[in-house]
Amino acid sequence: MQERIDRLVKEINAFSGKGNEEAEQFRIKYLGRKGEIPKLFSDFKDVSPDQKKDIGKKLNELKQLVLDKLEMIKAETGVTDSRSLSIDLTLPAESVQLGSRHPVSIVSNEIIEIFTRLGFVISEGPEIEDDWHVFSALNFPEEHPARDMQDTFFIQKDPDILLRTHTSSVQVRVMEKQKPPIRTISPGRVFRNEAISARAHCIFHQVEGLYIDHNVSFADLRQTLIYFSKEMFGEDTEIRLRPSFFPFTEPSAEMDISCKLCGGKGCNVCKYTGWLEILGCGMVDPNVLDANNIDSKEYTGFAFGMGIERIAMLKYQIKDLRLFFENDVRFLDQFKSAF
Ligand code: PHE
Repeated sequence: MQERIDRLVKEINAFSGKGNEEAEQFRIKYLGRKGEIPKLFSDFKDVSPDQKKDIGKKLNELKQLVLDKLEMIKAETGVTDSRSLSIDLTLPAESVQLGSRHPVSIVSNEIIEIFTRLGFVISEGPEIEDDWHVFSALNFPEEHPARDMQDTFFIQKDPDILLRTHTSSVQVRVMEKQKPPIRTISPGRVFRNEAISARAHCIFHQVEGLYIDHNVSFADLRQTLIYFSKEMFGEDTEIRLRPSFFPFTEPSAEMDISCKLCGGKGCNVCKYTGWLEILGCGMVDPNVLDANNIDSKEYTGFAFGMGIERIAMLKYQIKDLRLFFENDVRFLDQFKSAF
């Protein structure tokens, strides 16, 4: 035993490897599961009792020597793999690799959490839908381009059965079943027939919201969105509403938040405007209420909808939408979160 230790001390002192790869080989040779040092530790039981104290001390010194040497290689070459540096053989169990939530789930949960605080409840519905729930009940005219083959995936040749292009369809299902007051958000996967690129995908996720009651006004919508934006992006976030058009809301708007990166001064992320587009919204069109048997003379409502990937891209500075769908563990590993 004493001889083996002496030989290893010499060997280790003489070692002059450099770089990540050699450091890793060094670590495996001496500290790996079948490495020299674990071997010595397991043979330690055969050492005679009178030598145990002395040999035990030397063994510990030897292990420390290996760790110091690794530290040295690290200092010289900037080794980044902490596994090779901070191994502790006295730990009683193999460590467990923890997974992490997908960034789309993290952001979706955060959005849901904010709106549930305001009294919104979650509703879910089918991904394979019919024309009524995705388009007709939402006041899309017959000839609206969104119904076109270019945007919508139809199932087989039946133009009535399709993959939902937004989760507003879930809200139609809520209105069918429930009388106002309605206060609901619908998170879920949606599908659009688009070419896949860094900025567009044929599958993505949305959270859409709907609030219908007596006397719901645009001011309520605006205040809800201000609250959401500050909770999601920070207290100093400003919002701006720009007039827009959606078949199911009137008036309609698109909401921007002040760019977090440049503080509104202008940068390449906000394309030098100081603003980032986040969501679409508006007052529910009376035609939609009437189509769903809710009296538009008695009730008003607001609705909004946002893409989760888009918000995750802004929040985490992700430049390519395709990363969300590739399941590269190096990418996914970066998102450890409490949600
Ligand atoms: N449904 C719209 C979309 O998919 C978003 C939206 C929802 C806009 C509600 C206004 C009101 O883009």
